[in-house]
Amino acid sequence: MLRELEEIWRRAQAAIAAARNLEEIEAARVRFLGRKGELTQALRRVASLPAAERPLAGQRANEVKEKVERALAERTGVLRGEALTRRLEAEAVDVTLPGRPVMLGYRHPLSQVREEIENIFLGLGFSIAEGPEVELDYYNFEALNLPKGHPARDMQDTFFISEEILLRTHTSPVQVRTLERLAPQLPVKVIAPGKVYRRDDDATHSPMFHQVEGLAVDTNIRFSDLKGVLLVFAREMFGPKTKLRLRPSYFPFTEPSAEVDISCVICGGEGCRICKQTGWLEILGAGMVHPRVLAVSGYDPEKCRGFAFGMGIERIALLKYGVNDLRLFFDNDLRFLSQF
Ligand code: DAH
Repeated sequence: MLRELEEIWRRAQAAIAAARNLEEIEAARVRFLGRKGELTQALRRVASLPAAERPLAGQRANEVKEKVERALAERTGVLRGEALTRRLEAEAVDVTLPGRPVMLGYRHPLSQVREEIENIFLGLGFSIAEGPEVELDYYNFEALNLPKGHPARDMQDTFFISEEILLRTHTSPVQVRTLERLAPQLPVKVIAPGKVYRRDDDATHSPMFHQVEGLAVDTNIRFSDLKGVLLVFAREMFGPKTKLRLRPSYFPFTEPSAEVDISCVICGGEGCRICKQTGWLEILGAGMVHPRVLAVSGYDPEKCRGFAFGMGIERIALLKYGVNDLRLFFDNDLRFLSQF
């Protein structure tokens, strides 16, 4: 019996040492200590030994059992450690690898320019007004002194939704809506930035683009106020050396009307490709608010007057950044956008 226990111990030692992973060590445990394990069975046989042999055999059997248990625990510990090391190695993070850059977002160049324009006029005491992009014929044309059949309606290729509803072709309808809302309060000093729509689409026209409208009405607004405000704007936007030039023009909703040029931002007035050798760049339309526009909006043209202007944000952005194709602003190509 004692020799048999010695042999079981040797086999157990060998099996435990040979176990290469947790499954094999478990198999070894079952083989020796399981319900039908070699050692378990030997222990049972001890009980049936003659009384004289039992104490010694029992003591040895228990010693072997303890040794096997300890050997199993030790080897299990080693194998667990190895398994953990393997897992950590597999999951290892190489902290010396370069990080993945987090892409930063950019303000769209048109938003940047719009905000810049807004800030200049906010600084001059204007506030910001808004109006709907889906507009009534009345506000887009009629109230702006463009009755049905007026030839100037054709200048603005309109998207009509129905007979009376359209996509606004300019921000000028916000003039009328603002005056209606505020009448008879004075003074009125607002700008109205927003989207406008026209049916053309080429390198210099997009069917959707942005304008900023300006409107100032008070008891004694003069044409020189318009000129002064626009000069301040042009210098803040394009630099202190910028010059302004007004040419007589026609808009149904202003009288008199003017087209406003700035000295060329590229050549400073010398003449270049951008200004087509003229030294000047047109940036906006303006004029004194037509008395009829004041009258239909609830103001007495005998008691007040105003100036108005309208500019295209894309055009300002093109000039400011020297971009030659307006469609670049709408393609949303990050290679373009990330330059601003
Ligand atoms: N609404 C005009 C357009 O889109 C621009 C304009 C011209 C606006 C003269 C004005 C103005 O307020 O006085 O072409």
